[in-house]
Amino acid sequence: MTEQSPALDNLLTENRTFPPSDEFAAQANAKADWYDKADADREAFWAEQAERLHWDTKWTKVLDWSDAPYAKWFVGGKLNVAYNCVDRHVESGHGDQVAIHWIGEPGDSRDITYAQLKDEVSRAANALISLGVGSGDRVAIQLPMIPEAIVAMLACARLGALHSVVFGGFSPTALRSRVDDAEAKVVITSDGQYRRGKAAPMKTNVDEALDGAPSVEKVIVVRRTGEEVPMQDGRDVWWHELVDSQPAEHTPEAFDSEHPLFILYTSGTTGKPKGILHTSGGYLTQTAYTHHVVFDHKPGEDVYWCTADIGWVTGHSYIVYGPLANRATQVVYEGTPNTPHEGRHWEIIQNHKVSIYYTAPTLIRTFMKWGEDIPAKYDLSSLRVLGSVGEPINPEAWIWYREHIGAGRTPVVDTWWQTETGSIMISPLPGVTSTKPGSAQRPLPGISAKVVDDTATEVGKGGGGYLVLDKPWPSMLRGIWGDDERFRDTYWSRFADQGYYFAGDGAKYDNDGDIWLLGRVDDVMNVSGHRISTTEVESALVSHPTVAEAAVVGASDPTTGQGIVAFVILRGSAAEGGDEAVQELRNHVAKEIGPIAKPRQIMVVPELPKTRSGKIMRRLLRDVAENRQIGDVTTLADSSVMELISSGLQSGK
Ligand code: WTA
Repeated sequence: MTEQSPALDNLLTENRTFPPSDEFAAQANAKADWYDKADADREAFWAEQAERLHWDTKWTKVLDWSDAPYAKWFVGGKLNVAYNCVDRHVESGHGDQVAIHWIGEPGDSRDITYAQLKDEVSRAANALISLGVGSGDRVAIQLPMIPEAIVAMLACARLGALHSVVFGGFSPTALRSRVDDAEAKVVITSDGQYRRGKAAPMKTNVDEALDGAPSVEKVIVVRRTGEEVPMQDGRDVWWHELVDSQPAEHTPEAFDSEHPLFILYTSGTTGKPKGILHTSGGYLTQTAYTHHVVFDHKPGEDVYWCTADIGWVTGHSYIVYGPLANRATQVVYEGTPNTPHEGRHWEIIQNHKVSIYYTAPTLIRTFMKWGEDIPAKYDLSSLRVLGSVGEPINPEAWIWYREHIGAGRTPVVDTWWQTETGSIMISPLPGVTSTKPGSAQRPLPGISAKVVDDTATEVGKGGGGYLVLDKPWPSMLRGIWGDDERFRDTYWSRFADQGYYFAGDGAKYDNDGDIWLLGRVDDVMNVSGHRISTTEVESALVSHPTVAEAAVVGASDPTTGQGIVAFVILRGSAAEGGDEAVQELRNHVAKEIGPIAKPRQIMVVPELPKTRSGKIMRRLLRDVAENRQIGDVTTLADSSVMELISSGLQSGK
């Protein structure tokens, strides 16, 4: 940990607010009276928001919560999600509007209009039909950030098939467990992907993952990097051979509002990832509504850019579904922010006149490290709204973002939500809210959230506790794929009597009653905005033959929010292996889960601190990882263990 400067301390007790300018407020999509309006009649408010979409059959009831915690929204309504995101914009005369300014990492680019997107999605839907994919089937997608990724997702949605997108950085083992859990029939991938200026293989990893996978019938391969890849006879087919020859006409079918749309796996507190299930009508209503009000998006005027990857929920909700439902023109960038230089994002903003930019605190802190002189070289005057998501944003990063990217002028919206919530839940509204650096502030109109203590009592102003969502919302998860018990246990058992959804985050109210998020209260780490469970990394470590035991903690990290620190007990002579053994273990974790889960540090220790009942005391390990005075050790079974660990580390063992 770096020492904090006095200036930084000032920011941590930051209490400045930034009221919206009169000009912004006058043109804002969001209105201040929506909070009261929504409180007065929540269902009427959401019904009004659902009118943003085209429904083939209108719903008969807004919400059915009788089977809680499984909600039904817009009961009886029917719609096609892909039609809403694509066709209807063409039909309303906007076919020539650019939907996607796609920019490849090596410098190639493609502009895709809504009319072209409609043709591509229709061809891809016809291609999937030709492979036997239909409503309710699962299609796994592991692709880089190329247009085909978005097309593939929408093609599934069009057919009522569920996509399960797996982040391109996940290992073959991680991909396989997701493919098996969802019993995916088709997998869509690419030959390779560009990463930091180099072509890296993708298809060969997928081949390794799918070896003997019982559910998979076909693999569709997009040509991206052009490298030679083996194609398995009867199973593998090239996207360009299969899709390009299909007719561009496909009539979308209207599906029930509660028809499943996708599964997206996320880390929980056990080793096995959870397949979060989202459905159609409520999900699309809330993603479209939040994209409209939180980013103040104006179709046909704004150029929007969300820097997430479609492998995460932010990419699903704020690259694919929300923006396209709202007829956005957006930038989609394939690569890393420092390829070929550290001004890449600012150059893209300048060239495309990006007006809304949505990114993660970890990246903002990286930009800070690279220096403010880099963005200063570019014309960023087109920007008018800046967003942040993924982890708490520290006030100094917030201020830097507003000053150096937003010219001290743009509203910054700090948006709190989760894979499970489907869309933004807590955020300032630009043009309405006086923003506060570091606070997500207030649930959106239509959303209800509280900070409560252990007994489910709401804490007062200035108090801290757990964040709960006390009323159902349209884009809430509809379960964990194939695991009803885990769904109930994880989210609904902690405050079962009250029927509150337990988010797993700590939070506090300030003296104005605004909410500040404080990070996870469970064993989930947040590394560069990615959720990784401590148990997942621990099981990867103990699967290595040299490891006898492992404990993993998230230690605070100035750039990535948290960094993964592992403590391992090695077997016999392996303990003498030194740096090489440690390096091997880091690589092993990358291979088992993916490079994002590679521990920042692995410490070889003789013992782990455990309670008498055998539970590892991570709190104490976190003290070690963060170089702090070690806390209370009285509940340890053997209180000398911490000394043993500390002295071992000091002597460099
Ligand atoms: C954290 C990403 C503070 C939080 C959309 C949550 C945040 C987890 C914020 C969900 C924020 C996300 N302020 N913390 N603005 N946004 N988080 O599922 O701990 O990848 O529970 O969804 O990220 O991560 P997930």
